[in-house]
Amino acid sequence: MSAKKQARLVAITHATGSHLRGWRHPKAPARPATDVKAFIEVVRELERGLFDALFLSETTGVMPGPDAAYQHESMVNESLDPTLLLSAIAAATKHIGLITTASTSLTQPYSLARLLASLDHLSGGRAGWNVVTSRFETEAGNFGVDSQLLRSPVRYDIAAEFVDVVKSLWDSFDDDAFVHDREKGFDPARLRPLDHRGAHFHVSGSLGIARPPQGHPVILQAGMSEAGRELTAREADLALTSGGGWHAREAREDVRRRAAANGRDPDALVVLAVLPSVLVANTRVEAEAQLREFTALLSPADRQRHGILAGTAADIADIIEDWLDGGAADGFAVGFPYLQGPVAAFTRLAIPELQRRGRFRTAYTGTTLRENLGLPRPRRSAHHAIE
Ligand SMILES: Cc1cc2nc3c(=O)[nH]c(=O)nc-3n(C[C@H](O)[C@H](O)[C@H](O)COP(=O)(O)O)c2cc1C
Repeated sequence: MSAKKQARLVAITHATGSHLRGWRHPKAPARPATDVKAFIEVVRELERGLFDALFLSETTGVMPGPDAAYQHESMVNESLDPTLLLSAIAAATKHIGLITTASTSLTQPYSLARLLASLDHLSGGRAGWNVVTSRFETEAGNFGVDSQLLRSPVRYDIAAEFVDVVKSLWDSFDDDAFVHDREKGFDPARLRPLDHRGAHFHVSGSLGIARPPQGHPVILQAGMSEAGRELTAREADLALTSGGGWHAREAREDVRRRAAANGRDPDALVVLAVLPSVLVANTRVEAEAQLREFTALLSPADRQRHGILAGTAADIADIIEDWLDGGAADGFAVGFPYLQGPVAAFTRLAIPELQRRGRFRTAYTGTTLRENLGLPRPRRSAHHAIE
């Protein structure tokens, strides 16, 4: 019999968790966004639970009007820069992957390539990048960008070229360019300056930092429109799907097919289904009582939108097994209604149950995020100019 498929697990969060009103729960911390020490304790708990990675979402602006209510209020409207926060977390952890979010519509490839290469070096090869094109007018306004761009299909053309340029910049030096020999210094023949002249970016030069430990930090993509799927198939290592099991299976099959059509090994694209808010408890009665506490924090209108998956460790493990075996996911991006209690409940109840069933690792097997996810380290690409 073939080995059971094991789940990859990534915690998806903002400082307050992923539930619309979880921050109002009496046990949630009062100032979660700026309490870095408390946040680091949560990440250490995720690392004790052997999570592959922590994934921090980002919106670069305060939400206007009705969006503020839906976009998790203080979660979005008060948050530290995720890449800086992850660099503090890198110093306090050893294994867990650190996935930040950055926009291809509102930043420049060079500065982002340098930031992510730095995060990969200072974390010993644990960096990842959630590639987003951004969504809100307030975000566009902050950068002086026409907000029409964020709704236009062109945003994905820009994203594809942006990611290409970033990858080429990471490849500015051969892996063995820096010989660290006091007599020789680095070998100039191993510096490959980029001369990129594309439709959206002109970048000539080199990154000024050794190739990242992972070659390329892990690329994640969550957009599931036609253009989003194409970008995933071409550039991403991790894809996120949301929605029910049937939808997730269709999306996984589709992006795998597209990856193969782009000449890639579909198994080198890990597809994670999003479990937006998970509550694990010792008994169903306890899980339902906790669920009622969170539901009571929501207005009746919010209740129709917002779901929590609540149950015992066996209930959660049953769902995870079904999705893995049904071809709906290779793993899960797990959210928590707030962080402290629900994260510890997951790592102490659900993780051992998954391990008992042979569905999750019992120790970190690699040193980099790529190794833990079972992803290959990319070879240096041949630099090319996009006409
Ligand atoms: C689980 C999940 C997390 C996301 N996180 C972010 C984020 O942090 N910042 C952001 O601007 N967009 C985020 N998005 C939005 C996606 O990047 C994408 O824009 C959106 O799903 C619309 O997809 P489309 O552009 O292909 O239509 C997220 C989407 C999902 C499903």
